[in-house]
Amino acid sequence: MSLQDEIRILKKESDAIILAHNYQRAEVQDIADFVGDSLELSLKAKECKEGVIVFCGVRFMAETAKLLSPQKTVLLPEPNAGCPLADMLNEESFTNWRNQFPQYPLVTYINSTVEIKAKTNICCTSANAVKIINSVEADTILFGPDRCLGSWLQEKCQKNLILFPGYCPTHQLITSEDMLMARANHPDAVIMVHPECPKEIRDLSDFVVGTGGMLQIAKTSQANHFMIGTEEGMAYRLQKEVPTKHFTLVSHRLYCPNMKKTTLESVKRALLEKQESIVIPSLYQDKALISIERMLAIR
Ligand code: 13P
Repeated sequence: MSLQDEIRILKKESDAIILAHNYQRAEVQDIADFVGDSLELSLKAKECKEGVIVFCGVRFMAETAKLLSPQKTVLLPEPNAGCPLADMLNEESFTNWRNQFPQYPLVTYINSTVEIKAKTNICCTSANAVKIINSVEADTILFGPDRCLGSWLQEKCQKNLILFPGYCPTHQLITSEDMLMARANHPDAVIMVHPECPKEIRDLSDFVVGTGGMLQIAKTSQANHFMIGTEEGMAYRLQKEVPTKHFTLVSHRLYCPNMKKTTLESVKRALLEKQESIVIPSLYQDKALISIERMLAIR
């Protein structure tokens, strides 16, 4: 029996659903019941009927699923699949930063730990960040942990944002040279980059969008060739969903080692051993959930 068939049987026996982020390995995306961006995955985790969610992504995503569905078992197949960006805003760096600006509301990117979500006013993802920032009734807002997404929001919204200096190591790997080469070698291609990219990269693109937005543009645009500035798993998702068009990465370095930790073997093991089952410390559950629920109310 193939590993895929074993997983399908185990999934059925366990009343489980497999959710996978757009950056997951091709074979993990293929076995998933639902593939999406961070916002879509949160909504799916909240709405699904199954008692067990196997979350193929990184820790903060599985934690968000558990916050939204505390009665469900949420399994993270690879316990070491973390997010360096989320970890930059830890208890100590947060306290130092927050204490300098106690008077302003705090908006936190969903790429953050559950401890930080419990201390924030509202969360956002890249898909809804503009809407969320505009919904906050203050001219000055603290935003973290991603300084790149934050600087993009600063440009898009009429607000003064005070940014925490965190960043996604993978999106920092795109160089201006990559962008200029992409444009020169493929003048007909539409270039889409993630808002986690630095400003000089965003400024050389045609669209700055999250992964869900990239798929929408690929489906609806008249263009046939797209150059992608985000983690390489997204190119697989786009090619699979829109097989008649052509997708190329702007750089061959766009590989997130954490997103790629999850394999078919680890999905099978998670289903067999029911590990790692995410537990949210009760101290954080209610407050962290409020910051996510506020976001979902606005979307
Ligand atoms: P999306 O919300 O666009 O899927 O991005 C998630 C992420 O972690 C980007 O690095």
